[in-house]
Amino acid sequence: MGEIVDTVGWRLILERARDKAVNHNTASFVQLATFDPKLGAQVRTLVFRGFADDGESLLMATDGQSAKLKQVRHDKRSQIVWYLVDARQQFRFSGELVSVGHATRDQVERLALWRSLSYATRSSFFANTLGELEGDVNAKVLSDGAPESFVMLKLVVTEVDHLDLNLNPHQRHRYVRERAHWKIERIGLND
Ligand SMILES: Cc1cc2nc3c(=O)[nH]c(=O)nc-3n(C[C@H](O)[C@H](O)[C@H](O)COP(=O)(O)O)c2cc1C
Repeated sequence: MGEIVDTVGWRLILERARDKAVNHNTASFVQLATFDPKLGAQVRTLVFRGFADDGESLLMATDGQSAKLKQVRHDKRSQIVWYLVDARQQFRFSGELVSVGHATRDQVERLALWRSLSYATRSSFFANTLGELEGDVNAKVLSDGAPESFVMLKLVVTEVDHLDLNLNPHQRHRYVRERAHWKIERIGLND
């Protein structure tokens, strides 16, 4: 049995943990796991780019050719683990990973994310598979129109496992989405 909470309690705890980061760039690196039918679990580092308009889905950016997109087409279930070193807290987000590319009908969030990216990050979407820029891409990089290669990833979170190493014994809570609410329960370290 868990306590029902209306607000996204984990979001507040996460923001406080992020505030403690000494280096805000490295504190935005998350590890995303997907499932490949041939290779099994696949994990890699991505930059967390912010929350979606719903206030709780995690946004990332990737290239349209990347293997993770093929994996997501096969199985949307994904997990992100985020360890905030300075805050000594781990968050494990489970849910479905949605990819929003150039052909997706609603472009509002994708274009807003594109506009928020730095010049250097935008440039990478005009590089070939070896990471080399071909020709003068300056005008395209500065354009508010995103290239086809730019894909927004959105993890629609249904469960959050929060581990706090600051307390002794360490404390672990599980937040589970239940329709419009989140249910929170304290769980054992090995549950
Ligand atoms: C610090 C760091 C940040 C990264 N950020 C991203 C990112 O935001 N988006 C991305 O697609 N890949 C990023 N990568 C590269 C991925 O880890 C991965 O190598 C690449 O996306 C290909 O993964 P895939 O073949 O599983 O699709 C980053 C790598 C590192 C080390």
